[in-house]
Amino acid sequence: MIIPRPRELAVLGGTIAYDPDLVRLEPPDPTLGPEGYRLRIGPTAVHLTPGGPAGQFYARQTLVAYGERLPLGEIEDRPRFPWRGVMLDVARHFMPVDFVLRMIDHLAAHKLNVLQLHLTDDQGWRLEIKRHPRLTEVSGDHYSHDDIRAIVEYAAERFVRVVPEIGLPGHVQAALAAYPHLGNDPARRLPVWAEWGISPHTLNLEESTITFFEEVLDEVVELFPGPYVHVGGDECRPGEWEATPRAQERIRELGLSGAHAARGWITARMAEHLRRHDRRLVYWYDTDDGPSGATTMTWLDEESGPLATLEGRDVVLAPHRRTYFDYPVQPEPGPFAPDRVLTLTGTYHFDPPPEPPGAMGRIIGVQAQLWTEYLPTPADVERQTFPRLCAFAEVAWGSPRDYPDFLRRLDPHLARLAAQGTVIGPLIP
Ligand code: ACM
Repeated sequence: MIIPRPRELAVLGGTIAYDPDLVRLEPPDPTLGPEGYRLRIGPTAVHLTPGGPAGQFYARQTLVAYGERLPLGEIEDRPRFPWRGVMLDVARHFMPVDFVLRMIDHLAAHKLNVLQLHLTDDQGWRLEIKRHPRLTEVSGDHYSHDDIRAIVEYAAERFVRVVPEIGLPGHVQAALAAYPHLGNDPARRLPVWAEWGISPHTLNLEESTITFFEEVLDEVVELFPGPYVHVGGDECRPGEWEATPRAQERIRELGLSGAHAARGWITARMAEHLRRHDRRLVYWYDTDDGPSGATTMTWLDEESGPLATLEGRDVVLAPHRRTYFDYPVQPEPGPFAPDRVLTLTGTYHFDPPPEPPGAMGRIIGVQAQLWTEYLPTPADVERQTFPRLCAFAEVAWGSPRDYPDFLRRLDPHLARLAAQGTVIGPLIP
């Protein structure tokens, strides 16, 4: 049965047997929006009017998802949000290309349209950079440029956009292991980090380090054609900038108000460079120090999303208590604090707030996160993904809210996924 549930204009009662030959493709109606579509399902024909190519893709998926019988009537459907994302952390544990493609299939089947790849962190750098080859030499498994081209192409055929994330100026210990001159103590030799948590090490504030990352981004934008590039920005500890005389000298030279302002300075330099490539920067929202015009992902709580719109930012909502699929589905002994639990109903009842007056249209989407510190294999990732992704898809699409109805549709939906070999975690309503 269908997930996410479409908006039905009029369901007449009764069904017809689905036969692809019944479908009549009508001319596009742009008023439906690029991802919207209309289906008029009658006894002898199904009239499909797309808003655009993505809308046609979603309409056909709706027909397939209903299964053998279609409801007679009219469906006029479009997503609530243009950014309906999933973030996959391939830095903590590398995920093979085949599995990334499988995740893209899962996204497309649930009418989700953004796959953010968290490519770099303290524990690994997973994207080949030809200009700076040691980044991946120190990190083991990684994606070649050909791998990325294959992933991006596969995703585009399914109307999924791949957003690369190159994290800085914290979460960079793997880069510092490869190139110590990027750090605050160029004489120090750090390993790629083998622990979880937040490494205290950050980039230094030299112009040569900015140039290094501009060169990284030059290759990134060649590989990823979408409009957005994520540069991390979260959990950056200013301690090294406070303690290093050379960093203090740079802070004075640059006229920054202190070490706490250095993160914003580096992010703004990256935003400038991305603008030269006609790309937009995205960053994790920790405080209000991001560059103007950048898009932000609010992960700390549910309140910071609407607040960030008032700073004039586009916002993707990713509050951890609603969207972190690495959290357990019920309290259990393990690495997470007892309040770090995300139930199925907690996922389903994530209710994206409206924008405040004056910031209409600035909440552009929602995103689910799959951090992989404790998910070493693809099977582990899938088990954490399902069934919560199904609930999240209804939030992202803006399906009519009705939890009992969702649970009724979920059972046969999961049975179909399981029959395709998908690993499904426990279903705890
Ligand atoms: C994050 O969880 N550090 C974005």
